Amino acid sequence: MRSKADLYRELAGQLSSLLAGERDLIANVANFSSLVFQTLPDLNWAGFYFAKDGELVLGPFQGKPACVRIKLGQGVCGAGAAKCETVIVPNVHEFPGHIACDSASNSEIVVPLLKDSRLIGVLDLDSPSFERFDDQDAEGLENLVRILLESTNSKAPEE
Ligand code: SME
Repeated sequence: MRSKADLYRELAGQLSSLLAGERDLIANVANFSSLVFQTLPDLNWAGFYFAKDGELVLGPFQGKPACVRIKLGQGVCGAGAAKCETVIVPNVHEFPGHIACDSASNSEIVVPLLKDSRLIGVLDLDSPSFERFDDQDAEGLENLVRILLESTNSKAPEE
């Protein structure tokens, strides 16, 4: 069976090909969301929020409609953004302040998008399974985010 490390290695290659030659951030995060949502098993939401005027604003995603604005420090996305660190939540129902966009979500991972140590947004993945995300997902997704940021000028939209 294909290991998680193999899956992320393949994804990294596919993402590099998909983003090659295009530097538009919105186009690239849109394709990133689709590739990850279609490829990684057991997800019900995959997408981006961008830092604007001190809060997070919804960007391209795959999944059910989601809340548009999240304050820094609020929910899992806001926690990842405030700490500028990847946050893994094995059970969202036990996370103080979790924002329930899709009632199917039971676990979540948020990876910050940092350019020159400055926060431009976050990647957010939700799963209907508990404990869906581990350190290998964190490492794999952080590598995918690195490929994304290298592919673009990486300023938050309308900054
Ligand atoms: N659950 C997130 C909100 C975004 S949705 O999952 C798409 C949170 O607590 O920040």
